[in-house]
This record gives sequence, C-alpha cells and structure tokens, in this order.
Amino acid sequence: MCSINEALEPSAEAQQKVQERFMIKNVKGTRDFLPGSLDLWHKVEDVARRVPALFGYQEIRTPIFEYTDLFKRGVGEGTDVVGKEMYVFDDKGGDSLTLRPELTAPVARAIQQENLLRAFPTLRLWYYGACFRYEQPQAGRYRQFQQLGAECIGSPNPESDAEIIMLGYSIFKELGVTDYTLNLNSLANLHCRTIYKKELLDYLTKHEADLSESSKKRMQTNPLRTLDSKDERDKEIVKNAPRILSYLDEESQRHFDAVQSILKACNVPYVINDTLVRGLDYYSHTVFEFTTKSLGTQDALGGGGRYDNLFEQIGGKATPGVGFGLGVDRIVLMLEKLEQSANKLESIWLISNEFSRELGAAVATTLRNRGYNVVTDVQRRSFKNQLTSASKAGASWALILGEDEVNSHSITIKNLNTSEQNSILLSEVQTYEF
Ligand code: HAM
Repeated sequence: MCSINEALEPSAEAQQKVQERFMIKNVKGTRDFLPGSLDLWHKVEDVARRVPALFGYQEIRTPIFEYTDLFKRGVGEGTDVVGKEMYVFDDKGGDSLTLRPELTAPVARAIQQENLLRAFPTLRLWYYGACFRYEQPQAGRYRQFQQLGAECIGSPNPESDAEIIMLGYSIFKELGVTDYTLNLNSLANLHCRTIYKKELLDYLTKHEADLSESSKKRMQTNPLRTLDSKDERDKEIVKNAPRILSYLDEESQRHFDAVQSILKACNVPYVINDTLVRGLDYYSHTVFEFTTKSLGTQDALGGGGRYDNLFEQIGGKATPGVGFGLGVDRIVLMLEKLEQSANKLESIWLISNEFSRELGAAVATTLRNRGYNVVTDVQRRSFKNQLTSASKAGASWALILGEDEVNSHSITIKNLNTSEQNSILLSEVQTYEF
C-alpha cells in the first residue's frame, strides 16, 4: 500500500503513466518523420524530379480524396484494395468519398475531365504522393504510404510498355538500388484472358478441397489471384495449374515479344514470372513487378502494367495506357539497408565565440555557397559544448574560430571522426576540399 504522501504526490513514473494514457498518439499504420530522418526521402524526391524528366515525363498532382465510385469502377470491386482496404467516408453533403488507395485511376480521371489528350497524342506523367490502405501494418506495410509513379497514356504499342519499364529501372539505377528482380508477365487481351480464366477455374475447382479459405473465395471473385497466393498449400496446387502464357493469341504474343525485344536491346535484365497477376483489375497485356528478397514478406518495391480498359470503366473514351507505382517507404527501407545514409553530405559545424561571430557567419556562407552543410552556434555556448553537440549530431568536421585564429587570419579544422586537426589560412576556405 502506498503512503499518504505518495498518494497525494504520485511518483514521476506514475505521473508519466497517467500522462501517456491521456496523450493522443498517431494513427496506427502512420508515421512521423522527425528532423534528421528525411535525407533518404529527399534523395528519392530528388530522383523523382530528375529521372522521369529525362524521358519527357511531367508532374501531375491530383486530390488526396476522390468520389468512391472512381475506385470501385476503376480498380475493381472484387480487388482487396477496393473490397477491404479503402478509407471510405460520407462527407457532410452525403457524398461517398475515399482517400486514394492509388493514383492511376485519379490520373485517368483528371486526363479525361480536362480533356488533356486533345492537345497531345501521348501524355507522359509522373506523380509523387500519399496513398491510404487499411492493411495490417508491419515493416514495409503502412496505412499511409507514398507512391512515386508514372503513366504513359495514349499509345497501345509495346514501345510505351518498354519505355515505362525502363523508366522504373532507371529510377532504381539512379538510387543505387540493385538488389531486386524485375518480373514480367502478360495477362493477354480480354479474349485470351477469358478463355484462360475458364481453364484455370476448371483446374482450381478440381482441387478446391485442398485450397486455402481465401483462395476458395478468390475463385469466385478473381481466380487469377490464387496464382500469387502466399499459402504453401495453394503454392503446391498452383505449380501444376495452366499458365496464361500458353494462351496468348497472335496479337498478345506479338505485343509481349516486342516489349521483351526492346528491354533486351537496352540491357534491362528481367525474368518471366508466369504467375504474376497483380492485385488490381485494370490490367491487360504487360504486367511487371520489382521484387526484392531483402525486405521479408513485403517484397514488392513497385509494380505496374498496361491498362487499356480503365478509361472506359470510369466513363471515358477508350484510351490505352501503361504505368507503374513504386512504394517509396519500401525503397527508403532498402536505401537504409544499403547504408546509403552514409552518403549524406559531409556536415560541418562552425564553432565561434564573441571574437568571431560575424567572421563565422561569413565563413559559413562561403561554404554553403560551395554546397556544404554548415551549422553555426546560436546559443552562445562554450567551445566545449559546441564541439560536444557537433559530435552528437554526427557532424564530420568542426571548424574552430577563436581569438587566436582571428588574430592570425586562420581557421582550425578538426576531423571529428579521427580527432586530427590542422590549420589553414582563411583565404583557403574558398578552395579547401573536405
Ligand atoms: P500496387 O502494386 O497496388 O500498384 O502498388 C504499388 C506499390 O506501392 C507496391 O508495389 C508497394 O511497393 C507500394 N505499396 C502498396 N501498398 C503499400 C502499403 N500498404 N504500404 C507501403 N507500400 C505499399 C498500384 O498502386 C498501381 N496504381 C500501379 C500502377 C500505375 N499500375 C499502372 N500504373
């Protein structure tokens, strides 16, 4: 039992517990990105701005929420994304709205609404933005996540499939991510796919008793999805299931062959994965996915494919398109694993005091103009405290400007990793390489 004093004045620990219970936290599956943790995100954002432009792609931004029907009709009611994972709500006017779970349908909606294809036969667009899916959160899977995507709209030809795949490939290359496989498959045209679906369903029906419960359900809604089931029993059955690549007609085969010829000509490595079906309903012909073995079960870094019926599904004119979405959260996890954070800019702390405040600001400006990260003291702390903060912040260099340095027109350079130090003339700051 606690004493009267303890009851009247609860311990700091007890107070903290009570406070924690009342403190509002972030929503499950969302994350705060705190200062100092964004370098790799900036790196991806920088690549997003540079690499698609090399292929003639322009940025598009669409709203975070859309009418629910856009996704129901565009992505498909039978998909997990629409059936189970969307954040749907009625607004005060009684409209059903949905936080976007992906951006292909919104981009198609915007193109059609603004009649953007009137002026250009081909639209090349890229986007970077938040998506929302109510999934069970785990490493690499979040309820709010970022996608970097691109869509090439207006061409039915395999050149555009190859172009979009090469754009994805170039983004990974530019980021230095190499530990992944590009999986390629064809879902053929509607005619072949309908024949194949029936054959697959016949086969699955024969093995229905041994399938997992979720695959039994999928047989009714979307039998193709049983092919990428992660359940071991399903995998055994799928091994002998008919394969879509045996059902391609001449048109579908020609399209698939042409995509591969261009990828080969451009030395883009890929593997044929004839069980790759993707989770969204709008695909036909080429589908692809970038997968990695280094992130556990959330192995898809991104994926996409051709969608020639999406525009009609959402009430527009028949318009061919092909694109991809990359999961930036997963790419950042890859970059962290690669320890690319070590590649961040060399950061410098400029240590000054009352003798050198203005000179310190001028030296910092010179170095920033040369592209270095420079932090200066604004708390008027002692040299010792400034140096301790610099080390704690992971800075590589401390530049010390005290009374002696000011009098001798020099500056002391301390390597914070090795503790070695030397002195250079202030005039040399213009050219010194850290
Ligand atoms: P998706 O395969 O559904 O395709 O998503 C693309 C990528 O987004 C995934 O490969 C994954 O990296 C990432 N992602 C998906 N869900 C999550 C999550 N809960 N947490 C973290 N990352 C996630 C699409 O969205 C299509 N719109 C791609 C496309 C564009 N197809 C044609 N054009």
